[in-house]
Amino acid sequence: MADYVGAAMNSPMLSYEGSPATTLMETEVVEATCKLTGYRRCDGLINDGGSLSNMLGMAVARYRKYPRVKTEGNRIGRDAFVIFISEDAHYSYNKGAFSQGHLSDLHLK
Ligand SMILES: Cc1ncc(COP(=O)(O)O)c(C=O)c1O
Repeated sequence: MADYVGAAMNSPMLSYEGSPATTLMETEVVEATCKLTGYRRCDGLINDGGSLSNMLGMAVARYRKYPRVKTEGNRIGRDAFVIFISEDAHYSYNKGAFSQGHLSDLHLK
């Protein structure tokens, strides 16, 4: 049902000005999820699917830990990023690593 309503509204979710109702909805969902999970401070957004969410999470985590990735890419000096992906993880993590320019031999399982 939510997918049907979302498709019918075709809301861009770019900004409050572009989609006030869904932006407020997103804020409510993020706050409720924050309370539910026990975090005191949260931020977030609603994505269209699990793969996109996993890949975005990987990009955000990498940027948060190494902001210089924006200007220096996946190498910090002589060090290269290594990604640990559980054998039980969803395949979207491998896609995420590849799409973010990580060499496949550095995806450790
Ligand atoms: C943990 C997990 N990640 C990613 C996905 C992929 O989601 P989507 O098909 O919406 O991209 C799924 C799908 O079931 C999943 O369970």
